[in-house]
Amino acid sequence: MCGIVGYIGPRQAVTVLMQGLKQLEYRGYDSSGVSILNSGSIKTFKKIGKLHNLESIVPESSKAKSGIGHTRWATHGKVTDVNAHPHTNKSGKISLVHNGIIDNYVILKEELEAKGYEFISETDSEVLVHLIDSYLKDDPKEAVRKALKRVDGTYGIAVLFSDYPDQLIGARNGSPLIVGVGEGEMFLGSDATAFVGMSKQAIYLDDGDMVVLTSKSYKTYNRHNAEVEKELEDVKIDSTETKKGEFPHFFLKEIHEQPEAIRRAIVGRLLPEFGTAKLGGLNLEKRDFFDIKRIHIIAMGSAYYAGMVAANTIETLARIPAQVFDASELRYSNPIVDKETLFLAVSQSGETADTILAVKEIQNKGGIVLGVVNSVGSTLARLTHGGMYIHAGQEVSVASTKAFSNQITVMTLFALVLGRMKDVPLSRGKELIEQISTLPEKVEETLKCASQIEEIANKYKNSQSLLFLARGINYPIALEGALKVKEVSYLHAEGFSAGGLKHGPLALVCPETPSVFIITEGEYFEKMIGNIQEVKARNGKAIIVTTSNDKRLIDLADEYVKIPEIDEILSPLLTIIPMQFFSYYISLALGRDIDQPRNLAKSVTTE
Ligand code: F6R
Repeated sequence: MCGIVGYIGPRQAVTVLMQGLKQLEYRGYDSSGVSILNSGSIKTFKKIGKLHNLESIVPESSKAKSGIGHTRWATHGKVTDVNAHPHTNKSGKISLVHNGIIDNYVILKEELEAKGYEFISETDSEVLVHLIDSYLKDDPKEAVRKALKRVDGTYGIAVLFSDYPDQLIGARNGSPLIVGVGEGEMFLGSDATAFVGMSKQAIYLDDGDMVVLTSKSYKTYNRHNAEVEKELEDVKIDSTETKKGEFPHFFLKEIHEQPEAIRRAIVGRLLPEFGTAKLGGLNLEKRDFFDIKRIHIIAMGSAYYAGMVAANTIETLARIPAQVFDASELRYSNPIVDKETLFLAVSQSGETADTILAVKEIQNKGGIVLGVVNSVGSTLARLTHGGMYIHAGQEVSVASTKAFSNQITVMTLFALVLGRMKDVPLSRGKELIEQISTLPEKVEETLKCASQIEEIANKYKNSQSLLFLARGINYPIALEGALKVKEVSYLHAEGFSAGGLKHGPLALVCPETPSVFIITEGEYFEKMIGNIQEVKARNGKAIIVTTSNDKRLIDLADEYVKIPEIDEILSPLLTIIPMQFFSYYISLALGRDIDQPRNLAKSVTTE
C-alpha cells in the first residue's frame, strides 16, 4: 500500500527519494510525491499515476539534502494530484507524509477549521499537518508528539520542518516505520526496501515510538516520551531481489525462483534419520503441543489458501482438527480463545492490518499465536509468541507466488512435526522427508510446462469466465488459481470444489467458459473423472492439469498438462505452478500491468 521514504544527509535528497520510491513501487500505488528542503524552504512535487509522471516534474538536480517522499494508494479521497502526499501547512513550512488511517479526522478537521485552518485535499492525512502546525512553538518534536496524542487511528509519518532543516521526524502507530542508519546519513522507510542498497543497518520502531533524525544521529522515544535505546539490525534484503534481471516481470521471475525459495525454506530443517523436522523459532517446547486440541489459522487472500492447504495437511498427518479463518471476519466475531487452541497467523508481508488486528484480539484474550511470516522484522513477526520464517526472499510482484509456496512448505514441516508426535510412524516420516527434499527438483521440472501453458493461455484469453475445479488438498489450489487469474488478468474466474459443481456452478458451463481441472492420482481420482465428464457433456472445455498418465484423461482433455508425480500431500506445490503460469501468460496476452495490477497493493496496511 502507501510507501514512505525520508532522507537527511550529504547526498542529493531528490535522487535518494526517487530511488526509494522506485524501490517501493512494488507495494502498489496510484500517485506519488516528494518534498525537498533547501535554503530554508520546502518545495513539494506530486502527481497522479506512475512514478515517471513525478520524475518529469521534480528538478533533475537540486542542492536539497533532506526530504520526504510517498507513494499513495487512495483510501480517503480520489486519486488526484492534490490528494497525493506530501501535505503541507498553509505557510509551506511543514510537510508531511502519512500511511494509515486517522479515524477521528472529521472531528479534528472541524476543530481546526473553526480555528481558521483551510483544507485543500479530501484526505484524512491533511489534518495531521495542520494539527502539528497548531501545536508548533519552538520544538518540532513536541508539536508532533502533542498532535499525535490527539489522533485515533493508525499512522506511520515522516515530517519535515523548513525552520529546523537539520531534523527529520518520524513516528509510528499501527503502520510500520523503519530508520535506515547510514554513515553520516539517515533514512526513513515504510519498509526497509525503501533504502535497500543505500543503508545496511536499520532500527525498527515499535507502535507509539517517535524518532528525531539528524544526518548523524537518531533519538527514539516511546509513547510515554521517554528516550529509548533501539537495537541496530542488519538489513537482510538482498538488493538483487528488487531487480528483475533477465525477466520481463517480477511475477515471472518469482515463479521461477520457487525451487530456490523452497530450498531455503527446508535447508537445515529436515531430520531424515528421525523422519521429522526441526523448527527453531516456535518458542514452545514440543511437550506443549500435547495439550493442543485444535489449530486455527488466520490469514487473508493467498495466505488464507495456503492456510487451507496446511489445515488439510495438519488434519491428515497429526489428526488435530485445523480450520482457517478470514482474519477480517475473525477480528469482529468475538473469537473463542482457550488454552487448547493454537493460532497460526500466516502473512507474507507481516503487515496486513486485518491479520495483525485479529492477532491482537486473540492475544488480548490470552491466546497464543505463532507467526508464519516472510518479511523479517515485520510487525507480525515481532508481535507473535514465536513462529516460522518462510524464507521466500523478497516478493516484489503484488500477486503472491513464491511466498504462497513457501507458506505451504513450512506449514507442511510443522504438520509433520506434529504428525510424528502422534500417529505418523517413522517409516512414513522418512518417506515424506525424502519427498520434501526432492521438492526443489520437482518444482524445477514442473516449470518446464511454461511454454505449453503460454499456448493454452493465448487460446483461452478471450474466455467469458474461467472455472477452477479440484478436490481435497488441491481444492485450495483451485481457489488460488482463480484468484491469480482474477487479480492479474482482470478476467472473471472462480474456484469451486469439483463436488460442488452440480450444486450450482454447472450452470456457468458453456463453450466460452472453460474449466481448469486439477487432478492427482489419489483418493479423488475417479470422482474427478466423473466431474470432467459432467462438463464435457455440456460442451464445456476441459483444461486438465494432472500427475496422471491415465488414458481417460487424455481422451477427455481439450488441453492436457502433465506434471511430475509426487506424494499427494505435497502435490499443491507442483499443481500451483501451471496456475501461476496461466495467470501470467493470459495477463501478458491481454496487455495487463502484471506486477502492479489495478486497484491492488502489496501489503494491505488498512482494514
Ligand atoms: C494475492 C495476494 C493477496 C495476499 C493477501 C495477504 O496474490 O497477494 O491476496 O495474499 O493480501 O497478504 P499477506 O500475506 O502479506 O498478509
